[in-house]
Amino acid sequence: PAKATASDPQTMDWDELEAAVVACRACGLCDTRTQTVFGVGNRQARLLVVGEAPGADEDRQGEPFVGRAGQLLNRMLEAIGCPRETVYIANVLKCRPPGNRDPRQEESQRCQGFLLGQLRLIRPELILAVGRIAAQHLLQTDESVGRLRGRWLEFGPERIPVRVTYHPAYLLRSPEQKSKVWDDLTTVRRRLDASGTE
Ligand code: URA
Repeated sequence: PAKATASDPQTMDWDELEAAVVACRACGLCDTRTQTVFGVGNRQARLLVVGEAPGADEDRQGEPFVGRAGQLLNRMLEAIGCPRETVYIANVLKCRPPGNRDPRQEESQRCQGFLLGQLRLIRPELILAVGRIAAQHLLQTDESVGRLRGRWLEFGPERIPVRVTYHPAYLLRSPEQKSKVWDDLTTVRRRLDASGTE
């Protein structure tokens, strides 16, 4: 394994990691975004929610999932007894892609160390990947959300259980999928309860 350096996100504490995100110029997105969007929530969370990238509202406010999709995500989390402030919420990308275009693979790769750093510090019991970009990035696959959801998958050498569900922005356009997301979220809730120390 490569020797850790002072600029290795895998050795950083929270303050260092946050400062490194703010200072990052590893891809071109820093030129077009307003500000970085690090992540928010409980740093001891049992559940880590991973989304795609900041949108316009997040770019303006500096916090993930604060727009319409975020409000729906909040209601979904609330409904399974994991309100927003009890979980940790982060995105694959810390900077908004222009016009909310999909992240490019290279951008996700270059940003990956920050998400891994967050994961290492939080050590969540479970990961909920919302949407295709988060799911495909974490699981290193091309499979669709429709094929990835409905079963437990694993992330990383620690084999953290991952559940995949549809992105709330997609749900806003396709509300008929809500019952599937409800199934996914109640499955997450049951798994937390089963290992429960809360
Ligand atoms: N969509 C995401 O995936 N993340 C956000 O932070 C906001 C919208």
